[in-house]
Amino acid sequence: MASEIAQQPRIAEAWRHFVDTGEVDSSALRPEIAASWRRSSEAMVDPKDALGRLLPGQRGIDDLRDDHCELIEVARPFMSSLHRLVVGSGFIVILADERGRVMEIIGDEDALDRAGLVNLVPGSSWSEHHVGTNGIGTVLASMAPIQVSGYEHYCERFHTWTCSAAPILDERGQAIAALQMSGPSARTHAHTLGMVVAAAEAICAQMRINAKMRELTVLNDNLNKMFLITSDGILLLDDRGIIRRANPVAEGILGAPVSGADADSGAHALGLYAVPVYELVSKPHYFTKMLGMGKAFDDVEMALKTPSGPVHCLVAAKPVYDDHGNVNGGVVSLNPSKRITKLISRYSGSYATFRFDDILGRDEKLRRAVELASIAAQSDSSVLICGESGTGKEMIAQAIHNHGKRAHGPFVPVNCGAIPRELVGSELFGYEEGAFTGAARGGRPGKFELAAGGTLFLDEIGDMPLEQQVALHRVLQDRRVIRIGGSTVTEVDVRVISATNKDLLRAVAKGSFRQDLYYRLNVIQIQLPPLRERPDDIPLLFDFFMAKTGRRLGSEVRSVDQRVVECLMNYDWPGNVRELQNVVERMVSIATDGRIGLQHVPEELSCPSREDTQPAAFANIEDERCRMRRMLERREQEQLLTLMQKHGGNISRVARELGISRNTVYRRIRKASTRENNGQFLDCGPGDSMR
Ligand SMILES: Nc1ncnc2c1ncn2[C@@H]1O[C@H](COP(=O)(O)OP(=O)(O)O)[C@@H](O)[C@H]1O
Ligand SMILES: [Mg+2]
Repeated sequence: MASEIAQQPRIAEAWRHFVDTGEVDSSALRPEIAASWRRSSEAMVDPKDALGRLLPGQRGIDDLRDDHCELIEVARPFMSSLHRLVVGSGFIVILADERGRVMEIIGDEDALDRAGLVNLVPGSSWSEHHVGTNGIGTVLASMAPIQVSGYEHYCERFHTWTCSAAPILDERGQAIAALQMSGPSARTHAHTLGMVVAAAEAICAQMRINAKMRELTVLNDNLNKMFLITSDGILLLDDRGIIRRANPVAEGILGAPVSGADADSGAHALGLYAVPVYELVSKPHYFTKMLGMGKAFDDVEMALKTPSGPVHCLVAAKPVYDDHGNVNGGVVSLNPSKRITKLISRYSGSYATFRFDDILGRDEKLRRAVELASIAAQSDSSVLICGESGTGKEMIAQAIHNHGKRAHGPFVPVNCGAIPRELVGSELFGYEEGAFTGAARGGRPGKFELAAGGTLFLDEIGDMPLEQQVALHRVLQDRRVIRIGGSTVTEVDVRVISATNKDLLRAVAKGSFRQDLYYRLNVIQIQLPPLRERPDDIPLLFDFFMAKTGRRLGSEVRSVDQRVVECLMNYDWPGNVRELQNVVERMVSIATDGRIGLQHVPEELSCPSREDTQPAAFANIEDERCRMRRMLERREQEQLLTLMQKHGGNISRVARELGISRNTVYRRIRKASTRENNGQFLDCGPGDSMR
């Protein structure tokens, strides 16, 4: 600084005065220099003698450099540029660490030699408390850039030097280093400090960029890992809808990318699939809106064109914006509907629980049926299970599913008799949005699609309306479905098991069931015997259901009157095993003392043994029986009412669910209404009404 050069004689005077007396002449010195002299004096630095304090040995220098290698690497090009500006002028550029230890020096040889005379060499310390006021040490003590020239240096040996130094700060404002330019004091110039400050700031900025880069690299690595391992298919699109990246799941859905296409080789590269996403999906307008107007979308079902045919997916996409807020691409997630329906069926109860071991009974016909079923499980052929209601048809169907190669897929039951005839088609084949009034937005998959990879169980196939039989036959023949109102073809990947309690051959003869469909469904036929044809299995089933109900209700049955079992064996069980199960449950739940006797047997079983074999000694058992029957009747009445409401008064359905005949239902209804009319619950015999 020109003025400081002019000031040098005054400063020299002040220095000598200070050395002689220890007094700092503040009027001759800049305040920051005066403050630094005081600190140096307190640190007992000898102004006549001190030199740069050397670190012991090369090891120390190497360690110092190792500890700061990133900083040195970043600073070196800036130091070289600084030096190039002053080459030949006797200036050197120095980088010191946060404690003032010199790590790197760049300069002309003669200038370096001159610096060596004062130990201004790598490994020397220039902190204030070692060498007093100087560029590096004072910058680190005051945290502000400074130029120290000539006599401003605390030590005499540096009076021929001028030093301009600036701190290098980290993002928290802490000094991590100091940068300095030093040269002959006669060449002191104010611009030098400006250059050093600029270079120090550039180094700070570069260090910050490096730190950010490291952070982003870690983040990018993590995102990449997520991209690779997430169970969704992910596509990255550019602004034209071209697929730039696809994760392995997306590749699995779309098929392998077009060979030779390279997502990263610049603007001219083809997208991974060589065509924009619009050409791969069945609803391209969602993508047009997303990329054109930034409109994100969620869970839209669409079919994706793949080399192996269309794949239905739930698709979601979000736009990606550039710095100016323009959409310049999008992120797309693909979820194959197959996987979703698998989840849905798992959580909505469309899965099979029964296995062959659960099917009880020693009857030879039954065993043969089970054996045939277990053979059928090994194949993918259609199976038709025939048998009366409650004989275990669905149980067998589930067991076949669970023992076959589709066990991990969904088991989707459809009760063809319970669906209104005009809805059978949409239920089975699905429909597209707008297919008919009342069609849900976005359409719906049908049971064939929901059962993909698994088994479709068509229960009560005999009740299927004739016109739908045609459509069903076509789907089974072509192994392809098209949703109602749609055009996309989906491969059918289901095994079909159907069941009927009707004589289908007779229906075929009568013309109410199509022959071609019958033959397609009836590849393997399994016939389940009614329970009345295998009465010897009744005790076994009775014990099983009793124990099961007892466990469920937490009530142990301790004894059973043998006549109860006889009575059950004599009944003809129109509702088969389901009815038996219901009866046992009812008996267990009303047998409060853990004993099951004849009094617990429902009336419709009309056990002859009850009247015939009742010993006289059990006269007062009549009261007990009456009480029990009242309780039973009341329960039945409640159950009946609930089911009548549930089925909207449809007697056949109520009968089916209860596993009893329609006549029995009518009888119970009549009885219940009589009771209500009389204000009586139960008529237990002459003069024995409830009070
Ligand atoms: N052989 C059997 N062993 C054990 N339980 C059976 C047997 N057959 C039927 N069941 C019981 O009866 C209930 C009704 O059977 P299900 O398979 O639904 O009959 P279907 O479909 O023929 O009407 C089943 O839930 C099961 O608890
Ligand atoms: Mg059934």
